[in-house]
Amino acid sequence: MKQINGFSKLTKAEKIQWLCDTYFPEVENAAAFFEKYHNPNTELQKRHDEFIENTVTNYYLPFAVAPNFLINGRTYTVPMAIEESSVVAAASRAAKFWQGRGGFHTTVLSTEKTGHVHFFFYGEKARLEAFFARVQPLMLANAKPITANMEKRGGGITSLTLVDKTEALADYYQLSATFETLDAMGANFINSCLESFAETFREEAEKDAAIRGQYEIVMSILSNYVPNCLVRAEVHCPVDELEIAHLKGMAAAKKFVQALAIANADVYRATTHNKGIMNGIDSVILATGNDFRAIEAGAHAYAARSGNYKSLSNAWIEGDTFHFALELPLALGTVGGLTTLHPLVKTALEILEKPNARELMQIVACVGLAQNFSAVSSLISLGIQKGHMKMHLNNIFNQLGATDDEKQQLAAYFKDKTVSHSEVAEALNHLKSQK
Ligand code: MEV
Repeated sequence: MKQINGFSKLTKAEKIQWLCDTYFPEVENAAAFFEKYHNPNTELQKRHDEFIENTVTNYYLPFAVAPNFLINGRTYTVPMAIEESSVVAAASRAAKFWQGRGGFHTTVLSTEKTGHVHFFFYGEKARLEAFFARVQPLMLANAKPITANMEKRGGGITSLTLVDKTEALADYYQLSATFETLDAMGANFINSCLESFAETFREEAEKDAAIRGQYEIVMSILSNYVPNCLVRAEVHCPVDELEIAHLKGMAAAKKFVQALAIANADVYRATTHNKGIMNGIDSVILATGNDFRAIEAGAHAYAARSGNYKSLSNAWIEGDTFHFALELPLALGTVGGLTTLHPLVKTALEILEKPNARELMQIVACVGLAQNFSAVSSLISLGIQKGHMKMHLNNIFNQLGATDDEKQQLAAYFKDKTVSHSEVAEALNHLKSQK
């Protein structure tokens, strides 16, 4: 029976048993699959179990570091959590390349976050405006218990306005608020403020005959579109110092700029190009316990801000200098959330020497730029498969069940050959047959 009532009420062992009975009835001791990945430290395991609901085991991802990121004159070793072969190698390679050319230069352009109370108003707009003008200070005052601590640290609500959205949708208005949440990602803070604004709106509207019965509040929620929480990372070097495999100097610079022009002109390429940037960004976001879905959604919306989906990065030649830059929104936190609860997140932040949110924005943007530099460099020179398949070789060995000794021999054999799954399988069979 695949349907079950009250699953969440079962104990963890009962949940595992239900999975085993339902999906692995033929397997002896199937529960061992799940138990194998339990942490023997029961306190730690309990903490992980409590992050989400219905936990049955842990899901492992590799945690790696990419060293030599020289950012504004300071060197960082960057933690990355990702499953894709070659991402960490690519980031490290680019970091090393730019380390010898002045490193990365970054600027935080803005740190504003936004949220809305979305509602419909069916009456005369002037009445709503008058109501809002009267009630806005009360909304802010009623939110004080939520904002007091954040204000003490220098953050808080930075604006609260009424926005007419009726051109986009009939009768649709917003209370639009902006926030400074300092080192916190701030989702709970923002949503609590917004729900408080909505509550005050309701209370006051019920007392006001001009508004009562003419409005419907639909929802209160932060926006993951944060075009005013922006960071920029750039690298530059004399054109003569650019070297991308066999491409040197101006030949390398021109081809790189062409690749970027294509990413700005075509949505198919732009999407893959930006995916490469997100390979780097998401890995650091995950390692540092931030919300990669929020970052992805915000980055892609930003890439489409002109109405056409474009590259998040740009490259150009100015005089004798090659420039490559990335600008994107990153709403990040280095306090709260998982930062103190997940031991590896804590470790990741320690490896980064405990950055504040602004520093983390800059580090993350550099890894995105590095990743993009490596991917585009491979694409315009040797092609992506050579390097990628070399890194993927180990996965193929493991899929085929090669022993350590066989892996070593095969790695040497494929050193100067094109790697494909079937060719590795063939070579492994050949090796085994010789034994
Ligand atoms: C693969 O994960 C990422 C790339 O496709 C990015 C790109 O094409 O720029 C290599």
